[in-house]
Amino acid sequence: MSSPAGCLRSRSGGAMTRSTITSTENGVTRRVYVKTYGCQMNVYDSVRMADLLAPLGFSKAERPQDADLVILNTCHIREKASEKVYSELGLMRRLKMAKAERGARMIVAVTGCVAQAEGAEIMHRARCVDLVVGPQNYHRLPELVAKALRSGGDGIIETNFPAVPKFDFLPEAAAPEGVTAFLTIQEGCDKFCSFCVVPYTRGAEYSRPAMQVLAEARQLVRGGAREITLLGQNVNAYHGKGPDGRVWTLGELIRRLAELPGLARIRYTTSHPRDVDDDLVAAHREVPQLMPFLHLPVQSGSDRVLAVMNRRYTTSEYRRTVERLRSARSDLALSTDLIVGHPGEKEEDFRDTLDLVGEIKFAQAFSFKYSPRPGTPAASATNQVPEQAKSERLAALQTLIVTQQREFNLSCIGRVLPVLFAKAGKHEGQIVGRSPYLQSVHITAARYRIGEIAPVRITAASTTSLSGAIAEAFAI
Ligand code: 5AD
Ligand code: SF4
Repeated sequence: MSSPAGCLRSRSGGAMTRSTITSTENGVTRRVYVKTYGCQMNVYDSVRMADLLAPLGFSKAERPQDADLVILNTCHIREKASEKVYSELGLMRRLKMAKAERGARMIVAVTGCVAQAEGAEIMHRARCVDLVVGPQNYHRLPELVAKALRSGGDGIIETNFPAVPKFDFLPEAAAPEGVTAFLTIQEGCDKFCSFCVVPYTRGAEYSRPAMQVLAEARQLVRGGAREITLLGQNVNAYHGKGPDGRVWTLGELIRRLAELPGLARIRYTTSHPRDVDDDLVAAHREVPQLMPFLHLPVQSGSDRVLAVMNRRYTTSEYRRTVERLRSARSDLALSTDLIVGHPGEKEEDFRDTLDLVGEIKFAQAFSFKYSPRPGTPAASATNQVPEQAKSERLAALQTLIVTQQREFNLSCIGRVLPVLFAKAGKHEGQIVGRSPYLQSVHITAARYRIGEIAPVRITAASTTSLSGAIAEAFAI
């Protein structure tokens, strides 16, 4: 997997994020440690779990050994991602035993997509687990944690798909930790790509009502967010109920969000190429807050493989979609996801993938070896690609991706880009910002504030980041 710095995504196999919260109940301080694996939706869910537990008085633990409650918010997208959870649970078991020897109790909860897919197996394989909660049930965490605390250690599994969506039970969003925030607007998927577990772990496609989304966005902006990334497994299939009783599309929602004072930047991810409608293309043309950077997974450059994958588009249709978007916004940059070694993929199919990547010129891309997921159609296909061929194809593809990414970054040198100042850098007076294309930009400019957007002239680039200076300094 290539994982460019400056990218929001932290995929399985990539970085993990930790968030922590603390609590006092009957005068007793309780602490929680949350470890997040996988995609941005899991990052969002972990934040919301913290929001739910905060009223119970939970406070943050920096390390699992200091926590009364440990939550592993898991990802099931590829085998490696799931296996990581079991090795982490081995560590939790030792910590839990060490605590028990000191007469203290530690509740271990597994949430997220592994919880949904392997609930009973988790309980069986990892006896230290008290609580298994699927992604559609985490709004019940306070009640389930209380139950686990009362119980003598009998495992609780909660993986039903509830009739009422969890979003209706979530509290108001707390202030975001930085100037950028995630907001889940859609969840689940009805597309059933041959290789993917999401329709099974996250369930059927669901869009949150537009007013609920707007209220949460307002809350995030009030808390300091300047950039919001709208999330969904199939985000551009968004069809939420509008306040006028009509169904709103993603384009409509974006236009309405753009009216929020203080919200400077809007992004959305992940999109399906099939669902890029004219209204969304028009939003790219007309809404300046909508950033000119789009993650549009193509998965393969072979029409034959795309058909086997059940992706429901051809490479010509993908090219046409890219053209429509680029003609609406000429400075649009694209990123994508690619899978090599899907069952039945031949050398010539892989060469078609290299050709398509070469032609589209992605600013960045994530590439993965096909990983069989139990219960998905591709996992039981008899024409699996040998591991060796998968590894060779991945290496060749990543070489091309890295070259393209470096070329894209180098093409930014000399340009003036609006940069959102996100956090202080490692050195005195250094700021790390974010370009419209999600690149990290390092700037030395002591008098600028976090959250401000300023024009920066790019003076240097690497494969993973840019650096530059405030543009006024270059004024002739
Ligand atoms: N094997 C490898 N990669 C996968 N992805 C999804 N399922 C699999 C799998 N079984 C990749 C796709 C998707 C991204 C989130 O993960 O490229 O877009
Ligand atoms: Fe998975 Fe995306 Fe396909 Fe849905 S559209 S099944 S989330 S890869």
